[in-house]
Amino acid sequence: MLGARGGWRALRRCASLPRAVRLRVREALGAREPAEAVRVQGWVRSVRSQKEVLFLHINDGSSLESLQVVADPSLEKRDLTFGSAVEVQGKLVKSPHKMQNMELQAETIHVVGPCDIWSFPLKMRERHPLEYVRQFPHLRCRNNTLGALLRIRSEATASIHSFFQDNGYVHIHTPIITSNDCEGAGELFQIETSREEKESVEKSHFFNVPAFLTVSGQLHLEVMAGAFTHVFTFGPTFRAENSQSRRHLAEFYMVEAELSFTESLQDIMQVMEDLFKTVTSTVLSKCPRDVELFHKYIAPAQKTKGRLEQMLKHKFMIISYSEAVEILKQAPQTFTFKPEWGCDLQTEHEKYLVKHCGEVPLFVVNYPYDLKPFYMRDNEDGPQHTVAAVDLLVPGVGELCGGSLREERLPFLESRLQRLGLTDAYQWYLDLRKFGSVPHGGFGMGFERYLQYILGVDNIKDVIPFPRFSHSCLL
Ligand code: 4AD
Ligand code: MG
Repeated sequence: MLGARGGWRALRRCASLPRAVRLRVREALGAREPAEAVRVQGWVRSVRSQKEVLFLHINDGSSLESLQVVADPSLEKRDLTFGSAVEVQGKLVKSPHKMQNMELQAETIHVVGPCDIWSFPLKMRERHPLEYVRQFPHLRCRNNTLGALLRIRSEATASIHSFFQDNGYVHIHTPIITSNDCEGAGELFQIETSREEKESVEKSHFFNVPAFLTVSGQLHLEVMAGAFTHVFTFGPTFRAENSQSRRHLAEFYMVEAELSFTESLQDIMQVMEDLFKTVTSTVLSKCPRDVELFHKYIAPAQKTKGRLEQMLKHKFMIISYSEAVEILKQAPQTFTFKPEWGCDLQTEHEKYLVKHCGEVPLFVVNYPYDLKPFYMRDNEDGPQHTVAAVDLLVPGVGELCGGSLREERLPFLESRLQRLGLTDAYQWYLDLRKFGSVPHGGFGMGFERYLQYILGVDNIKDVIPFPRFSHSCLL
């Protein structure tokens, strides 16, 4: 409740304000009817001063297109420059230009925040390369390419949530700080306090045991799948692996799903494919101009657009790991890593396989037992020969998703954990196999790799809001 004085002041403020409707640039551009008094706030993308008229373009991040403002030259002022923040008030009218629907005839232009164009790293009407803007993580979102990317990221995020919610999955916030190394690959960031005086090793552990940033929410999802049947999570994930590569990040987002009462890898692959196609169709229909920018200017040589449309029409291919190794062995090219049954598929192998299958997304199933983490289900096709694992490989990127059926049989899991010396650490996980265990499985999809693939972006650092820890400017 406002006090008597506060209420009176608020009333006076309202009375002195003209009744202009505030519109986002996107709303103004899409308006069907002219409007007498509107207000638009944003940043100046261009200023062109002619004898009789002053043209501005204003962008507020709501769309790739900027709103054209037409003003009397008397409204021009020294600090009304490229990059400055402004509030423009005036009439929204039909634009005489074919390229746009509406324009704003300015009555007042207020410079809210001036911009020193000489030291501002972005320049008017310049198409800055991604490598250049990467140097300015705090300013690059004001550039068209990053603006488009971040709108697509936001739309894809919403679509991933809708996909799962619409299909009856429960969203779970899995922990970011955890004591487990789900993938067992040792690519962990350990958590420590910044306290300097460490009296003993035990005392230096804030939680009394070593704790890490999560590498996957899968094990926690398995807990929840034991009560809700269908669950998903979509959150930050951390890996202490080579983040200098074009497809690895130390911090990335992973979408993970877990399904109980699922006996076939086919069912898991169907969810992966449906998720991929649904989200991609939504992004293509909701952000056509933003996606077009990437396909036209960032990856034109890859013909990404046509490829995506083809991909959406056809079913993804499936081959087994053993078939994949045979294909690689017969390849006319020599690989840096010789393909051999029992060895991991390297990026060069993944790329060849995708090309061999016609540059379409490709599921590779049933990997060697010894290559994969402890939780994967033994196929029983020989003594510890293969597990029910699946990787989804896509053109240009390689591995996009990894998933499997989980070992739900207590004796199998017990003996595997025992061999790895992990029985004590995973007692709670073994419990899940003692109390109402069901066949289940799931998968994880790297969100940044997904964006890299659909947009044809070469370097994974260009699909994240902030290029973390890659420059001296660590935001
Ligand atoms: O194949 P991964 O390691 O699978 C898991 O973590 C499973 N526990 C997921 C599950 O079944 N719930 O990782 C899944 C995906 C990869 O296919 C890749 O797309 C992405 O996560 N990924 C990375 N993306 C960017 N930078 C990294 N360092 C990545 N590591 C994995
Ligand atoms: Mg994997």
